[in-house]
Amino acid sequence: MKREELLKEAFQAMENSYAPYSNYHVGAAIATTDGRVFRGVNVENASFGATNCAERSAVFAAYSYGYRKDTIEALAIVSDGPRIAAPCGICRQVLSELLQQQTPIYLSNGKEEVDTNIAELLPMQFTEEDVNR
Ligand code: THU
Repeated sequence: MKREELLKEAFQAMENSYAPYSNYHVGAAIATTDGRVFRGVNVENASFGATNCAERSAVFAAYSYGYRKDTIEALAIVSDGPRIAAPCGICRQVLSELLQQQTPIYLSNGKEEVDTNIAELLPMQFTEEDVNR
């Protein structure tokens, strides 16, 4: 799937963002190697810590349908903020395990665009190899 198409999916997803507390809306979309798209949004909660970020929602949805890092082609994350929404620390940790290191991550806020990957976003990763002794 083309980059622009996946970004469009993420912007459409953002319309379903549930963010009554921050009013900061985020949408994400994952393209799989067999042409499917899994969307995700940030879903907030009155108990703020229970909030789920958009990119985690999307990657968990893809995994829920049996997709894995080798069948995930790209991830787009978009927001309506003045700056692009670079994934938070928790999301970087999750993405470091659930995406391949070089899988493209497209960031946009409609004005600015950055293409990156998790190797660049999270150096010196803590991984399963550190745990499985
Ligand atoms: N948020 C995301 O969904 N993804 C990010 O990359 C950054 C933060 C959400 C969490 C919360 O609902 C809102 O943005 C403000 O932190």
